[in-house]
Amino acid sequence: MATPNQEDYLEAIWFITQEKGYARVTDIAERLNISQASVSKMLRRLKADGLLEVERYRGLSLTPYGESQGQRLLARHRILERFLEQLGVSDPAVAYHDVEGIEHYVSAETLERLSALIQYIDQHPEWWDAMIHNLPSRK
Ligand code: FE2
Repeated sequence: MATPNQEDYLEAIWFITQEKGYARVTDIAERLNISQASVSKMLRRLKADGLLEVERYRGLSLTPYGESQGQRLLARHRILERFLEQLGVSDPAVAYHDVEGIEHYVSAETLERLSALIQYIDQHPEWWDAMIHNLPSRK
């Protein structure tokens, strides 16, 4: 991952707090593969934006607003992940890397259309399978 931005932090904190109930700077640094010093700087911004709060003795947690933004990011991540899966991207590490890149650029409209397509595929799997099997194969 390139330098993680605010959304990457929010997503990481969302995952960590789902698992543990709170997040520490070390958890975040580890998940994003960066130094603790850079984490502290971004945390100040997230706090200033009302996304994050510090609980004494426990660690960091998301405000209700941060929580809802985290949910939105997760939903976006899942739609893109499903789409790549449907396309036949078979290596989960490749898919994850691509999703982490695409998600920061995709527009709300494109995401909405992808989401509609995925729903259609779920309802008409035979149509999608026939199409995907007729695509030129990979080298
Ligand atoms: Fe993501």
